[in-house]
Amino acid sequence: GLPPRVRIHEVGARDGLQNEKATVPTEVKAEFVHRLAAAGLTTVEATSFVHPKWVPQLADAERLFPLLGDIEGVHLPVLVPNDRGLDRALALGARRVAVFASATESFAQANLNRTVDEALAMFEPVVARAKAAEAAHERVHVRGYLSMCFGDPWEGPVPIPQVVRVCKALLDMGCDELSLGDTIGVATPGHVLALLAALDEQGVPTDRIGVHFHDTYGQALANTLAALQHGVTTVDASAGGLGGCPYAKSATGNLATEDLVWMLHGLGIETGVDLGRLTDTSVWMATQLGRPSPSRTVRALSHK
Ligand code: HMG
Ligand code: MG
Repeated sequence: GLPPRVRIHEVGARDGLQNEKATVPTEVKAEFVHRLAAAGLTTVEATSFVHPKWVPQLADAERLFPLLGDIEGVHLPVLVPNDRGLDRALALGARRVAVFASATESFAQANLNRTVDEALAMFEPVVARAKAAEAAHERVHVRGYLSMCFGDPWEGPVPIPQVVRVCKALLDMGCDELSLGDTIGVATPGHVLALLAALDEQGVPTDRIGVHFHDTYGQALANTLAALQHGVTTVDASAGGLGGCPYAKSATGNLATEDLVWMLHGLGIETGVDLGRLTDTSVWMATQLGRPSPSRTVRALSHK
C-alpha cells in the first residue's frame, strides 16, 4: 500500500543553487526559502557550511541564514561536513544539520578530499556534538546523506553491500535519518527496491530512510513510487528541478518538487503543498537564473 502522507524534504535552495552557474544574490535566496515555506513545504534545506572555495555558490551562508529567521513550523536544515561547519551552523542557531557521506571512494575523494572511512571519521565528532547539544534540551536533528548509492560516474554500478555498510555506519554514529542519494540519477526501480530490501534485512527501520533522486535518466518518479510502495515516507526534491552536484559532472537536477507533488496528489497522498504557489515560485526563480525550469509540471502549469 501507499502512505497517506509524505514529507517532502525540499533541497532547491541548497542542492539546486549549489550547481547553478549564475550566482544568486543572498536576498533572492532568502526570498526563495520564504516562498517555498509559504507554499507549504515544512523542511526547506537552506544552505551549506562547507568550504567557500569548494562551493562558491553557497559562500554567503553566514549572511543568508540570519535573513531566514524562525519560520513557524518549518525546519531549515543545513549541510555541515566537519567540526568547523558545525561551529558555523550552531553559532547562527541552526537546529537541523546534515552530514554527507559517500558510498564510493572516488566520490569521497572528489567531494570531501577523504577516503570513505576518513570522511566517516570526520563526521563522527560532528554527530556526537550535535547529540550533546540534544542532551542539553537543544535537540539538533542530524540527517546523514549518502551519495552514489546506485551508480558512480567513475566506478559504475555500486554494490549493495558497500552501500549498506556506510548506511549502518551513519546510523551507528547517531544520525536520526538517512537520505539515500542517487547522485547521478542512474537508478531504476528494481535497484531501489533491492537496496531497500537489503537495508530491511540489516534491521534499518524504513521510517528513518529518505530517498534523494536525481532525474538524469527520467527515472526519479518511478524510483520514488517504488520507494513509497516499500514504506518510505520522506522524499527529497528540488523546486523547479534545480540542481545537480558540482563534484559529479554527470549529475543533472533533482527530482522536481512540482512533478513529485503532481504524482502524490494524484495518488491521494497528502503533502501540505500548494502546487500553484510552488509553481509560481519556480517560475520566478527561473527568471532570476535566466533559464527555464526543466520540470514538466512547472512547464505544463505555467503555459495553461
Ligand atoms: P579540505 O581541503 O580537506 O579541508 O576540504 P581541511 O580540513 O584540510 O581544511 C582546509 C582549510 O579549509 C582550513 O583553512 C579549514 O579551516 C578550512 P586554513 O587553515 O587552511 O585556512 N575549512 C573550512 N572553512 C569553512 N567551512 C568549513 C571548513 N572546513 C575546513 N566547513 C572539506 C574538506 C570537507 C572542507 C571540503 O572538501 C568541502 O567543503 N567539501 C564540500 C563539498 C560539497 O559541499 N559538496 C556538495 C554537497 S554533497 C551533495 O550535493 C550530494 C547530496 O545532494 C546527495 C546526493 O545527491 O548524492 C547531499
Ligand atoms: Mg543531490
